[in-house]
Amino acid sequence: SVDFSTFTKQTGHTSLDYGFVNTAATKSAITYIDGDEGILRYRGYPIEQLAQGSTYLEVAWLLLYGNLPTADQLGDWDDKIRHHTLLHEDLKRFFSSLPHTAHPMSVLSAATAALSTYYEGQSDPNNPEHVELNTIRLLAKLPVIAAYAHKKSIGQAFLYPDNTLSFVDNFLKLNFGNLAEVYQVNPVTSRALERLLILHEDHEQNASTSTVRLVGSTGANQFSSISAGINALYGPLHGGANEAVLDMLARIRDSGESVERFVERVKNKEDGVKLMGFGHRVYKNYDPRAKLVKESADEVLTELGVHDPLLDLAKELEEIALNDDYFRERRLYPNVDFYTGVIYKAMGFPTRMFTPLFAIGRLPGWLAHWTEMQNDPQTKIGRPQQLYVGSGARDYPGAS
Ligand code: ACO
Repeated sequence: SVDFSTFTKQTGHTSLDYGFVNTAATKSAITYIDGDEGILRYRGYPIEQLAQGSTYLEVAWLLLYGNLPTADQLGDWDDKIRHHTLLHEDLKRFFSSLPHTAHPMSVLSAATAALSTYYEGQSDPNNPEHVELNTIRLLAKLPVIAAYAHKKSIGQAFLYPDNTLSFVDNFLKLNFGNLAEVYQVNPVTSRALERLLILHEDHEQNASTSTVRLVGSTGANQFSSISAGINALYGPLHGGANEAVLDMLARIRDSGESVERFVERVKNKEDGVKLMGFGHRVYKNYDPRAKLVKESADEVLTELGVHDPLLDLAKELEEIALNDDYFRERRLYPNVDFYTGVIYKAMGFPTRMFTPLFAIGRLPGWLAHWTEMQNDPQTKIGRPQQLYVGSGARDYPGAS
C-alpha cells in the first residue's frame, strides 16, 4: 500500500498535495492575502483604498512595477495604451470565421493566442523591450477583443476604439455604442465598472495565474501564456462562477422552487449541485472583495434605477446560507463572484460576457506574475511530480 501523504522515492521525499492546498510553488511580492482575517493587499495597499480612489490602469502599473506611478508616468502609460488599442484589420476575418454562438471566453482565448502570430519576432520573453511592448499591447487589445466577441454574438457591427475616451469609457462604448447613434457614457456605470475591474486585478496564485506562470515557465511568450490563463479562468469553479451564479439565480426564479428547498438540495449534494459564488480556497472568512461588490450592487442598481428581483433572491440565499450549520461549519461565505453578475446585468452585459469581464480585470495580475517569474533567477520549468499507482511491468501478448 502507498502512504499518500508522503512518498519516499529513491532520491528523497515527494509530497502528494491534491489541489496544491499546502504547497507553495513560488515566492511573490505582488499580492498579500490573509484568508482568516479577510485581508487583501496589492503591493501593500489595502484593496478597499485602491477600489475607492484608484483607476484600473494605475493599479495595473502598481502590480507590474511595484509602486504607484507618478502623474507623468501614469499619463505616459495611459497614452501608450491608447496608442495600441487597434487590432490588425485581418483579425476581422478571424472573428467572422467563428460561429456567432461561440462563447465569448472561447473567442477571447483564441484571439489572444492568435495575436502572437502578428508579433512574430517581437515576443521574446528574454527581451525587456518586447516584454514591455506586449504588456501594453495586451492591456490595450484584450478589452477590444472582448467587446468584438460581444458584438459578434449579438450580430452588431464592430466599432473602432475611441481614444478620446478613458480606458473604461472606451470599453463601454465598444460594447454598447452603435454606428447609428452618439454614445453617451453613463458615469455611474463607468465608475462602478472601474471599481469592479480593480477588485479583480490580482489574487496571487489562483488557478489561472498559476497556469500563466506554468506556461510561462516553459519559455512561452506572453500571448500564449495569457491565452492559457483565460482558458483556466473559464471554468465554473473559477472565473466562470460569475456566469454560473446568474444562471443559478435565474433557474431558481424560473423553477418556482423555494430558496429553502434549493439550499436543502445543495446541502444534500443532490446531483452535485453547489451554491455558486460561495466558498473559497483561501478565504475562510468573508471575501473582502465580496463585501465591496455587495455595497456596489445596491448603490449601482439604485443609481441606474434598476430593480432586479435576482438581487433580492441573492440576498435571501446569502441570509439563509450564513445562518445554516452546513455553510458555517465549512466556512463557506460569498466570494467575489456572488454579486458581480447582478451588477454586470444591470449595466447591460449579457451573462456570457461576465467571465470575459473578469479576464480583463485579471489581466494585469497575470502579466505581473508572468514578469515576476521571468525576472526571478530561481525560476525553473514547472514540472509537478506524480505518484504512480498503475500496473506493474507486464508483457504485451506475443512479446518475448
Ligand atoms: N456549495 C456547497 N458546498 C460547498 C461549496 C459550495 N459553493 N463550496 C464548497 N463546498 C463544500 C464541499 O462540498 C466540501 O464539503 P465536504 O466537506 O462535505 O466534502 C467542503 O465545502 C469543502 O469544499 P472544497 O471543495 O474542498 O473546497 P475547495 O477549497 O477545494 O474549493 C471552491 C473552493 C472551488 C471555490 C468551492 O468552494 C466551490 O466550488 N465554490 C463554488 C464555485 C465558485 O463560486 N467559484 C469561484 C471561486 S472564487 C474565484 O475563482 C474568483
